[in-house]
Order: sequence, then structure tokens, then C-alpha cells
Amino acid sequence: MHLLPSSSSSRLRLLSLALLLHVSFGVAAVDPLYAVCSTSRNYTANDAFGDNLRQLMFMLATKASPIGFALGSVGQGGARANGLALCRGDIKSTACTTCVRTAGARVRDLCPNNKDGIIWFDECMLRYSDVEFFGEIDFDHRFYMWNRENVSDAVMFDGKVENLMNRLKQKAYISPLLFATGEMEIGESQELYGLVQCTKDLSGGDCKKCLEAVIGELPSCCDGKRGGRVVGGSCNIRYELYPFFDA
Ligand SMILES: *[C@@H]1O[C@H](CO)[C@@H](O)[C@H](O)[C@H]1NC(C)=O
Ligand SMILES: *[C@@H]1O[C@H](CO)[C@@H](O)[C@H](O)[C@H]1NC(C)=O
Repeated sequence: MHLLPSSSSSRLRLLSLALLLHVSFGVAAVDPLYAVCSTSRNYTANDAFGDNLRQLMFMLATKASPIGFALGSVGQGGARANGLALCRGDIKSTACTTCVRTAGARVRDLCPNNKDGIIWFDECMLRYSDVEFFGEIDFDHRFYMWNRENVSDAVMFDGKVENLMNRLKQKAYISPLLFATGEMEIGESQELYGLVQCTKDLSGGDCKKCLEAVIGELPSCCDGKRGGRVVGGSCNIRYELYPFFDA
């Protein structure tokens, strides 16, 4: 898979992938897909924000397991840490807890002293900030991944991908989990598999808007590619020519 941030924002520092090979708390070295730290506001080692952030990470891992989503804040004023964790909708609760715990540890390693960070794994994502960001579509954080291989008929294929993604969007935004997976036959015994998901702090209407925006980026991301993902802070989509989720 190739990886590229879809846009660069001056207040966001992109992390070198070499940094991402760290291992924390003896958790197996599952590599994050991507992480972004904001360096515009920092905390120091003996500052209350650091303590609040540690407590927040613990709380998110505990709260996320029953429904695959957690939202929370710890502390007051400028030391308040706000966070959100989301597991992929088909992930079991024990795997969700493990993923969120790993994400919390890794993002603190990768964004030392930064008051704002976000990290994505295959099975979960985690975002924290000193600024409360709940309930708003995140248009700032976004990256693409795609399969290097091309399909033979890009125009036909891209049309089917868009069609499947739109169908899943219609399903997801009215569902309680804001999540949908599905498949579509695209020719002689070939199936296209798709997944779409929003963070559950969004309303159904904003989930729909968020998914429309990322689906709209498919031509820039994944034109004619056998697999692709557009991943953001509030929603993400993925398609492949093989099953990659638990139905
Ligand atoms: C925060 O720390 C980073 C280094 O980790 C530094 O580059 C940046 O300038 C700092 N930001 C502020 C506002 O001090
Ligand atoms: C896929 O298509 C692109 C654009 O036409 C081309 O640059 C690339 O080399 C192709 N990839 C493979 C693996 O053939």
C-alpha cells in the first residue's frame, strides 16, 4: 500500500514512518497506518495536562469496548484533555480494547509533549486535544492509501466503487453505529468489498456529509486502483477486491 497525506496543513507536523516502529508496554509491534502531531501547543513533563492525558487514555480504552467508541474529557481549563477513540465496526470488544490501549500509548510516544495528536491503525483510531473537538466534522486530518496494482478498465471499475460507496453511505448514516460494510458483484465471479464508518460523535446528517467528502476524493486517491482508502478524523472509507472485514 502507498500512503500520502491528502493535504498538508502548516500547523500539522507529519511524522516520519521510521519513528512509528516504537514498541510500548510490551504490546506486539502493530504499526500504525499514520499519525499526526500538532506542535502549536505543548505541555511539559510535570504539567497537569500530562497527568490528565494519561488518565484519558486509560478511560478511552475502558469505555470503548462495549460499543467500539468512546469520548471523554479529563481535567479543567487549559489542562483539560479531550479524546475520542473509534474501533472499526466489525472488531470484537477485546481486540478493540487492545487496539485503543496501543493507540493511546503510541500516540503519546510519537507526539511527546504535544497537546494535540491523532493516530490510526487498521482496527481503531484515537484523537486527543486540549481543544474540545467533539461533534464537528474534522476536515483537517486526511490521508490516502492505495494498492499499487491497476485494474484493466478504470472507468468502469471506478464507477462501481463509487456506486458501492454511495450505497454504503446511505446505509451507514441512518444506522446507530454509523458503520456499514457490503459487497457488489463486478463481473465474472469477481466481488468488490467496501466499508464506510463515521465517529459516533457526529449526527447522522454530518456523517453523511463527511462520507460524501471522502467519497469525492476517490478520483484523487485511487483512480483505477485495485484497492484504496480515504481516511479522516471523522470518517473513513475502504474498498478491496478481497474480503477484509468480518461480515
Ligand atoms: C512544541 O515542541 C516542538 C518539538 O517537539 C517544537 O518544534 C515546537 O516549536 C513547540 N511548539 C511551541 C509552541 O513551543
Ligand atoms: C498503474 O497506472 C499508473 C498510471 O497510469 C502507472 O503510473 C503505474 O505504473 C501503474 N502501476 C502498475 C503496477 O502497473
